[in-house]
Order: sequence, then C-alpha cells, then structure tokens
Amino acid sequence: MHSSPQSRPSRSPLSTDRRNTLSLFADKNAFDPNRDSKMPVRRGPFWLVLRALAAFFSLLISRHPSDALTWLRSMYLRRRPLRMAIPWLTFDAIRHIKANLPDDARVFEFGSGHSTLFWLSRGAHVTSVEDDEAWYELMNNTLAERGINGCQLVHAPTLDTYVGAIARCQPQSLDLILVDGAHRRDCVAAAIPYLKPGGMLVVDNTDWHWFREAPIQGIPAEWPRLTFAGYGPMLGHRSETTVWCSANGC
Ligand SMILES: C[S@@+](CC[C@H](N)C(=O)[O-])C[C@H]1O[C@@H](n2cnc3c(N)ncnc32)[C@H](O)[C@@H]1O
Repeated sequence: MHSSPQSRPSRSPLSTDRRNTLSLFADKNAFDPNRDSKMPVRRGPFWLVLRALAAFFSLLISRHPSDALTWLRSMYLRRRPLRMAIPWLTFDAIRHIKANLPDDARVFEFGSGHSTLFWLSRGAHVTSVEDDEAWYELMNNTLAERGINGCQLVHAPTLDTYVGAIARCQPQSLDLILVDGAHRRDCVAAAIPYLKPGGMLVVDNTDWHWFREAPIQGIPAEWPRLTFAGYGPMLGHRSETTVWCSANGC
C-alpha cells in the first residue's frame, strides 16, 4: 500500500513565516553545527559563500557531477521544507542505498523528513518516528496533501517512546533502519534486533564528536561497515554517513 508522490508537490498551507520557523537554517538553536559537528563552522556571508563555492565545485569535478546541480537545487529549496524527496545523507551513501534497497522494502527511521518522502517515492513501507511536534504536524499535513499513504508516522516526544517505537516491528523484519534524529546512540542499540539479515543500518553524521569520542556499542563486529564522507543535499559542509550491512552484507 505504498504511495506515489506527485511530481509537482503542492504548496504547503503554512505561511512563509511558519515554514521558515520550521527550517533548521532559520532556527539556529535547533541544529547548531558548532554544537554538533566535530569542527566549529565559521559563520558570516564570506565563509558561507566560500563554503558554497567549495561544495559546488568539488561536486562538479567529482565522479558524479550531476550531484552539483542536485546540491544547488537543494540549497535553493532548503527554506521550503519537504520540497525534495531526497534524504539528508551524503550523496555517496544515497547512491549505495539506492543500489541495495529492495523493491517493496520495509523501512524504519528515527527522524522524519525528506528521507521519508524518498523511501515512499521508491515504494517502501515506512514507519517514521518524530519527536518534534511542529515538524511531525508538517510531515503529516504534507503526506495528507499529497495523498501519500504508505507511511506510519509516529509522534514520540520522549526518549522512551521515541526509542521504543521500533518495538512495534517484528524482529529481523526491516530492510533498512535510518538513525538520523534524536537519541542516536540509544536508537542504534534498539534497532539491531529488528534488521533483516542482509539489511542496512544507516547512521548519519558519524563524524560528530559523540560518535568519534566513543564507538557505537552493540553493532556485531562481523557486520561490514561502509563510511561515506562528502557533501549531501541541503548541507553546506562535508559530512559522513555510515552504513552497516547485517549478516551477509549488502
Ligand atoms: C537532520 S533531520 C533529518 C530528517 C530526515 N531523516 C531527512 O533525511 O530529511 C533530523 C530532525 O531535524 C528536525 N527538523 C527540524 N526542522 C527541520 C527541517 N527544516 N528539515 C528537516 N528536519 C528538521 C526533525 O525533528 C528531524 O527529525
């Protein structure tokens, strides 16, 4: 019962002000690279332009130059949330996932957003957990407006309900689990029993200091690990997405 997202999404009924308030880039307290990144990020128009040029040209001369145009479009649209059905992961990680995600996949994600639209556009059955009430409402409205109905969206504002939401799935039933929202260490630990043999556990921002300082616990040592560093849509700086493949690999 997956959905088929429209090629030209309708405008959100939210006012521009409301949309901007929901944007991570408008509310710097919601997502502060100085707090979350391993490296402080310089601010100000000069550094912004310099970073944008570095991102654009390094994508343009990469093995996948079309990423540069996708990136440019995503940066243009980033103040209008949910206009693009592409996850906030690095481009190379997205390519790996696309190549390995089966048709009709079962996906569970901690942290809703553009990734939710992406899984749905690929025919997946999605359960997506969100702790932020305003973001949850925007997601819910967007899915309803576009007539998308392959997604179970769960609002879980507390640590216990958020991390525990995966317990509604059957053990070893999920083709992909994305950890890209709140409480990431707890989410990884909770997720492991629910991944199918051959499934992918995807953790974003593994370059952040709390991943670097202490290794993530509980992931079986025999699961192959692939790290994809680089730029991604809607990101003005380099980042890192890590994919673990359970059992036989993926
Ligand atoms: C880094 S985002 C990633 C969400 C999703 N996995 C994706 O790839 O789009 C993680 C969290 O940021 C919050 N958020 C707030 N404003 C947002 C915005 N404009 N775009 C995306 N996420 C936003 C949501 O609570 C979301 O769960």
